[in-house]
Amino acid sequence: MKKLEQLYEGKAKKVFATDDPELFIVDYKDDATAFNGEKRGTIVGKGVINNKVTNFLMQKLEKEGVPTHFVEQLSDRETLVKKVSIVPLEVIIRNISAGSFSKRYGVEEGIVFDQPTIEFSYKNDDLGDPLINDYHALALKLATAEEIETIKKYAFKVNEFLKAFMKENGIDLVDFKLEFGRLSDGTIVLADEISPDTCRFWDSKTHEKLDKDRFRRDLGHVEDAYQEILRRLMGE
Ligand code: TMP
Repeated sequence: MKKLEQLYEGKAKKVFATDDPELFIVDYKDDATAFNGEKRGTIVGKGVINNKVTNFLMQKLEKEGVPTHFVEQLSDRETLVKKVSIVPLEVIIRNISAGSFSKRYGVEEGIVFDQPTIEFSYKNDDLGDPLINDYHALALKLATAEEIETIKKYAFKVNEFLKAFMKENGIDLVDFKLEFGRLSDGTIVLADEISPDTCRFWDSKTHEKLDKDRFRRDLGHVEDAYQEILRRLMGE
């Protein structure tokens, strides 16, 4: 597989073309941003960890019946994925109050919900990824009604699997963000990443934060938290 020209550079990853028009290579960076890019920094080793954790979880999710863009890990930071066009919706599932939910509704962090919540943000940096509902997404033609139903079904399935799997490893899955893409034939698949950048993970016993909130909130020991997630999930 030949790595050809760079197609895109995001905040945490670069995407390259390959000699197969249906396959891309993603390359994970150590760059970290928060608050729509206002806060910038480096989390040493993050790219390697997020690549490995994402691929490990996506392979498990495939077995659970959630189709993903994953094809093959090529190196510590590079993965071969199916070419998708990203549906411009950030899909956020929450099991426990935290972050923007707590801020928006004026409640403390740590309230365990009776059932998970789902919300969408319109993936648009210029607008600051505003919260939108299904009707807005349809009006803006970001996805079809059928695609939105499929995305919701997969997102809740990811939650059921991931919540139980993390719990087995002593971690509470607080919330997370997913992105989906369309293959050339229109099939919806899980894309982007599932990592400490895009999930909130709290140690079940100590409630210690093991995710990017350590960077967002300057809590220190950011690298240690990412390493701990890799160790608990993959034993590395
Ligand atoms: P929030 O509480 O800030 O809305 O974040 C909810 C979840 O989504 C949390 O696990 C972090 C993740 N997230 C991203 O992956 N990217 C983002 O740009 C934001 C704002 C949140």
